[in-house]
Amino acid sequence: MEFLNNFVLHQSAEHIELLHYMLLIVLFIFIPFTCIVFGGIFLSVYYKNKANKHNNNFYLRLSKDVAEITTINKSAGFIFGVVPLLTAILIYSQLLHNSEVTNLNYLGLALVFIIVSFVFIYSYRYSLSFNRIFGSLSNKSITDPLIIEDVNKLSDESNRISQKAGIFGLLFLFLGMWFFITAVTIPSIYSSWNVESFVGGLFFWKVLSRFIYCIFFALALSGGMVLFIFLEDEKKKHFNDEEYSVFVKQKILRVTFFSSVFIPLFALINLFGLPATALTGTVFTYSIISLALLFLGYHFLFLLTKEIKGTTAALLFFTLVFSIAAFIISDQKAMATSTQVHSAMLSAEFDKYLAELKGEGKTIAINAAEIYQVKCASCHKWDQKLVGPAHLEVLPKYVGKEAQLVAFIRNPVKVDPAYPPMPNPGLKPNEADAIAKYLLETYNEKNK
Ligand code: HEC
Repeated sequence: MEFLNNFVLHQSAEHIELLHYMLLIVLFIFIPFTCIVFGGIFLSVYYKNKANKHNNNFYLRLSKDVAEITTINKSAGFIFGVVPLLTAILIYSQLLHNSEVTNLNYLGLALVFIIVSFVFIYSYRYSLSFNRIFGSLSNKSITDPLIIEDVNKLSDESNRISQKAGIFGLLFLFLGMWFFITAVTIPSIYSSWNVESFVGGLFFWKVLSRFIYCIFFALALSGGMVLFIFLEDEKKKHFNDEEYSVFVKQKILRVTFFSSVFIPLFALINLFGLPATALTGTVFTYSIISLALLFLGYHFLFLLTKEIKGTTAALLFFTLVFSIAAFIISDQKAMATSTQVHSAMLSAEFDKYLAELKGEGKTIAINAAEIYQVKCASCHKWDQKLVGPAHLEVLPKYVGKEAQLVAFIRNPVKVDPAYPPMPNPGLKPNEADAIAKYLLETYNEKNK
């Protein structure tokens, strides 16, 4: 991923801050979406397996519904998955430019895995509709035994292909998320990241605890979303099937409950994984907010076990989304603190670059002569007095005392009663330095 260095722009401290905010927004989109897709496809594949085993049509239907709700549609994968990840890669390459520690290799692989996984996942999602059509065809009272055989064969075939697509999609997304989590962990614990090998990074306990946190969150989030959308659809009377509805609520509620129970534990482990310097008040505050929202989510879950209501499901889903958002903020604040020194270095480089652009800091022999022409020559000559005295007369006392000459030029004082006072020429410090040097050098040459 070194080629990304070619795109890196010089950045001031303000730009760096802006990049942090942009990263935050991008992660707000990418992380919940990917989590929901992962949780959804995991559940869908799991239910489909059960459907095949027990020959249960409810499981098949649930498998399809979960996949359709959580993957939204084809363009969602691109808009909420691929584009934010690409943006995140560009931002990280800016923020960690010239750093010894980099996460770009992990991010690059995460991108590849996630694109591949989306191809599988969306083929899986759309193949489920075929499955259902074939499924209902074979239930129809077709009398021709040849057609029945054909339909059964096709049905089996499409079932096998879609099952494979689902499993591959899940596998690649799993890898993609793992690499991605490794990549975002690195800058958060920047100063204490001392993992030497590439693979070792994946198995570092701080990475693993975040990854497990993320997987549990994925299941809880997708469960919350399925419940919420399912109840909405039911309310709008898109379907009417009491028995199936009870089945769905029972299954999904159980998943959401069991997956969210473990989240606080891993949230705490993640917090302990942060280096002491990164544990600022803000980081703590957002972690607490994240946990508080999670407990609020438990409360809604509890209410749902008493009575299933659409609004409660919606509240559950959104508290979970906000909880993970608060966690992302806390983590990004930790990153900003952990990489503070590096950021300061980058902005110092920027200042140097800017100074070069403006032509400051170069040795200015030519420049000094030019400035002299513009700012001094109207009143001074070398060998005659003009408005001011001839340089050859006044400069001897400044030989070897450049600092005093600079001081006078920057801030002229009254010297000789024969002359009017010299007005302040309004030079910048480095310009005054250069002119003083120029005057003394020229004086020496003239006296050789
Ligand atoms: C508006 C006219 C004017 C301009 C422009 C001007 N000077 Fe002068 N300069 C004077 C006058 C008048 C004096 C004599 C002041 C006095 O003796 O109090 C003087 C005095 C000096 C002296 C002698 C100071 C001493 O200790 O006797 C130096 C050196 C000098 N100018 C350098 C410069 C340089 C360098 C510039 C350009 C950046 C410059 N001046 C621009 C009018 C000018």
